Amino acid sequence: MLVILRRDDEEIGRQAAQLIASAVRKKPALALGLATGGTMVGVYKHLVGLHKQGSLDFSRVTTFNLDEYLGLPAAHPRSFHHFMRENFFAHVNVDSRNIHIPDGTIHGNYDQYCTSYEAAIRKAGGIDLQLLGIGRNGHIGFNEPTSSIGSRTRLKVLSRETMDDNSKFFAPGEESPRCAITMGIGTILEARKILLLATGEAKSAAVAKSIEGPITSAVSASALQLHADVTFIIDDAAASQLSQRDFYHRVLEMTALLTPDRLS
Ligand code: GLP
Repeated sequence: MLVILRRDDEEIGRQAAQLIASAVRKKPALALGLATGGTMVGVYKHLVGLHKQGSLDFSRVTTFNLDEYLGLPAAHPRSFHHFMRENFFAHVNVDSRNIHIPDGTIHGNYDQYCTSYEAAIRKAGGIDLQLLGIGRNGHIGFNEPTSSIGSRTRLKVLSRETMDDNSKFFAPGEESPRCAITMGIGTILEARKILLLATGEAKSAAVAKSIEGPITSAVSASALQLHADVTFIIDDAAASQLSQRDFYHRVLEMTALLTPDRLS
C-alpha cells in the first residue's frame, strides 16, 4: 500500500489524473474503473484538460463505473450517469460503446443483471485500474458497512448515514434513493491496480481505519489492505487521524528515488 499525502483537493485531482493518464499512455486499451462524488470532480477536470491539450487519447479505453442509484434514469440530474456525462464523457473521446455504468432502471431479476455486469468486466479482460472514493462510513462504491469482503456486483440497501449524506444533492421533499446497484468488494479487489482518493476532515476517521485499522467488514475500505497494489491519495485534512504520517512521507521519498514509475 502506498500513501501519497497532498495538501488539498486541487493537488489530489492533479496527481490522480497524472497516474490515470500515464496508465492510459502505457496501455491505450485500458479497462478503467470509474467513481463518482465530489472528490472526483477535480480528477475529471484534469483528465479533460489533458485530453483537450491533445496529450491524452481515450478512444480505445473501456470504462466501468462502480455504482448507480436504483430508480434513477440516466437523464435524472442526480444519477451517476448524468454526473459522468457532465464531468467526463461529454468532454473526452471514450467510445460510447465502451462505457459501462450500472442501469438504475432495472426492475426485478437484479441478480441476472448484476451477473451480466460482471461478465462484461471479464470480457474486457478485467479492470486494469480502479478509481475509488470513500464514504464517511468507510464504504467504497456503495458497499456499506458489513458488506462481505467477497461480495460481487449486486443490489445493495443504503445505510441511513449514506442516505443523509446524499439527501443534500436532492431537491427539498425529494426522497434520496434507498438502494443502489454496486460492484462488490470482491469485484473491486480483482482490479489490477486501485487508486483511492479522499479529501476533507469528514473522511479522516474512515481513512485512518482503512489504512491503519484491522481488516473488517465494518469498514469496507479496510479490505483494500488485502490488495497488492493500492495507492491512497489523501489531503492533509483527510490524513489528520493517521498515526504514521512521517513514515508515509519517508516511503514516498524513497519511492520517488527508487521506483519513480509508481508515482508518474
Ligand atoms: C458515493 C459513491 C462513492 C463515493 C462517495 C463519496 O457514496 N457511491 O463511490 O466514494 O459517494 O463521495 P464524495 O466524494 O462526494 O464525498
